[in-house]
Amino acid sequence: MFQVKIPATSANLGPGFDCMGMALQLYNRITVETKRPFRISLAGSYLDGIPADESNLVWRTMCHFWDLIHYPTPTVDLTFENFIPPARGLGSSSAAIVGGLVAANIIAGSPYTKLELLQVADALEGHPDNVTPALYGGVTLSVPTENGVLPRVLAQSPNLKGVVIIPDTHLNTKRARGILAPQVQRKDAVFNISHVSLLTEAFIREEYALLKEGMRDTLHQSQRAALIPGLLETLEAALQAGAYGAALSGSGPTLLALIPSNSKTDVSQTMISTLATHGINAQAMILEIDSAGASSSPIR
Ligand code: HSE
Repeated sequence: MFQVKIPATSANLGPGFDCMGMALQLYNRITVETKRPFRISLAGSYLDGIPADESNLVWRTMCHFWDLIHYPTPTVDLTFENFIPPARGLGSSSAAIVGGLVAANIIAGSPYTKLELLQVADALEGHPDNVTPALYGGVTLSVPTENGVLPRVLAQSPNLKGVVIIPDTHLNTKRARGILAPQVQRKDAVFNISHVSLLTEAFIREEYALLKEGMRDTLHQSQRAALIPGLLETLEAALQAGAYGAALSGSGPTLLALIPSNSKTDVSQTMISTLATHGINAQAMILEIDSAGASSSPIR
């Protein structure tokens, strides 16, 4: 019997569209008992709409992996404890995919390395910006290469906390991507290339004052403001309230602000009240950065 723990993730970090991400200390857990009749049990804070049968994403991912390596599907008793809110831009589907792959790999005797699991997760998820931090922890960059995704951990344990503002509303990634123009202007591409470089420097040198400029974006956030009223104003309010930087988390609707780990400033309250003036109710979580990524431990 063992358990896999998978962190929530925040993708993009502003300009790093589809390539940058960060793992946060909020987890889904998968408990696996082998040699028991097949069963899926659900627990945790988010159960609505999550199937407890063979259509479950974690289970489908496990079966996909065993098919891939020609391993006979074993009977297992699975418990999924979900604490990552779904469809909010905190990597819940990546957590399901990464968790399923890590669990299935352990059951099969760990034939795949973490890097190999990343390639499978990327193929299933479609973009690697959530799956890389979910597997590796910290702040990550995912580089698409001819040989698959090259993962780089820019900072394993940055001295930061994430203020995570989670609106009551759901927004699926397909809709939030559908709103983006298929082509970008050269000036916007140059803006993001330069800003993601600054963002990388901020994390590597631990010069967090650079995050304010480094987390600005022109490729997706202003377009997505049409789906999330008050988005841009709330990000600016976070900066005014003392956050180092702020961005839309993944494809939203959650917002992420980064603050010093010892900060006492009330960035979350400012963000919540700014969103409220646009008719959006939200809850706040203050989360440490996860530095381990998906991990497993035996249960006796
Ligand atoms: N980077 C994706 C997007 C979301 O912004 O659409 C997470 O993979």
